[in-house]
Amino acid sequence: MFRGVIQAARTLRPRTKPSLRCRTFASTSLVRSDAPTVTSLDTFTEEEVMLRDAVQKFATEVVGPKVRDMDENEMMDPSVISGLFEQGLMGIETSADHGGAESSFTSAIIAIEELAKVDPSVSVLCDVHNTLVNTVFRKYGSKEQQDKFLPLLAESKLGSFCLSEPASGSDAFALQTRATKDGDNWIINGSKMWITNSYEAEVFLIFANVDPSKGYKGITCFIATKDMGIQIAKKEQKLGIRASSTCTLNFDDMKIPAENVLGGEGKGYKIAIEILNEGRIGIAAQMLGLAQGAFNKAVPYTYERKQFGQPVGTFQGMQFQIAQAAIEIETARLLTYNAARRKEEGRSFTKEAAMAKYWASVVAQRVSGQAIEWAGGVGFTRETGIEKYWRDSKIGAIYEGTSNIQLQTIAKFVQKEHS
Ligand code: CAA
Repeated sequence: MFRGVIQAARTLRPRTKPSLRCRTFASTSLVRSDAPTVTSLDTFTEEEVMLRDAVQKFATEVVGPKVRDMDENEMMDPSVISGLFEQGLMGIETSADHGGAESSFTSAIIAIEELAKVDPSVSVLCDVHNTLVNTVFRKYGSKEQQDKFLPLLAESKLGSFCLSEPASGSDAFALQTRATKDGDNWIINGSKMWITNSYEAEVFLIFANVDPSKGYKGITCFIATKDMGIQIAKKEQKLGIRASSTCTLNFDDMKIPAENVLGGEGKGYKIAIEILNEGRIGIAAQMLGLAQGAFNKAVPYTYERKQFGQPVGTFQGMQFQIAQAAIEIETARLLTYNAARRKEEGRSFTKEAAMAKYWASVVAQRVSGQAIEWAGGVGFTRETGIEKYWRDSKIGAIYEGTSNIQLQTIAKFVQKEHS
């Protein structure tokens, strides 16, 4: 479909190894080697610009027509998931050797933002798969684990990150799922709740405690595949991101081979929180894209809709609200891109990621709520899709660390810096 983009990307940076499948976007660059020393935050490499254009096209042409049905049916269209794989968007940072695009973290952030402009559900599916699941394998997996799972995750198998439980959400390290050693296997018992992607996923990262006497230092990360006996107990019905699956999972004496311990026994808590620090930039990008998507839908309408003889968007009261929203979106954008670039440059980014996620969630809720009001009656109907952005925005303040958890994280840094 986007053969021109594929060819352009390949001419720009020839791949070290032929890709396993034809991809929209492919590069071998991990850093902005061509970037000048000082740039504005919205300066992108040529590859990143091409990626943005390609994702925009995919989101508009392939995802767009399905958004309303997927929301109404509370189900992701399987062709959207296969489309994401075909476009090379499920292994954005994965090396070419493992079948990925071997691109920058910012590329992943750009893809998540662009998808969210059209459908935040599709965006979070891609986000969790890339910034949580793939990244855990890339950063902490053994060579054998990477060789086995990264190509599958880049090519065809959806991943899921299983941390939260009925009694441990914000207090994530209080998780109750247990793992006990049995010869060459681990036996897992427990439940996970609110697990994104879990209905369609085939590869699961499960956090379980191997030694509760050590508290959170017993938490260990296990790789499971669906055929090991994961029970999908319940699919939640939600206010927003309804096409994104969120399920309860049960593990009843589920056997996992010892070689599927990822990162070492007792290392799971560090893996979980360090990956979430990165993942939060992804959620910031999702919320940023959502806010922009709502803005893009509602604002043109205000210049078409006439009341009292003039377009409603030209009344000063409306102009100022629209200008204010544009500023807020820009601030969310700068925080998000700044956190992404800091991460890429190997600098500290935890505080910046928390700020970006917190603020982008606030902006997403605010702008999408206003967008409904700007569009008036039609904004309140399901016809325009504007109200969906507002419903979808609410989750931004909840998953991958609530807004209060982000504030707590930021406050810890502030205290350290000023005392
Ligand atoms: N980065 C790195 N390390 C951190 C950290 C951070 N942001 N926060 C805490 N830690 C480390 C500490 O350094 C400490 O490690 P050591 O003992 O090795 O020194 C350890 O964690 C415990 O620290 P605290 O006592 O301060 O931690 P806590 O128990 O009070 O809470 C927390 C820590 C669970 C990480 C909490 O701050 C938090 O972030 N809760 C939110 C959990 C979350 O994001 N869940 C998301 C679920 S997944 C999801 O949502 C995916 C999806 O569906 C889209």
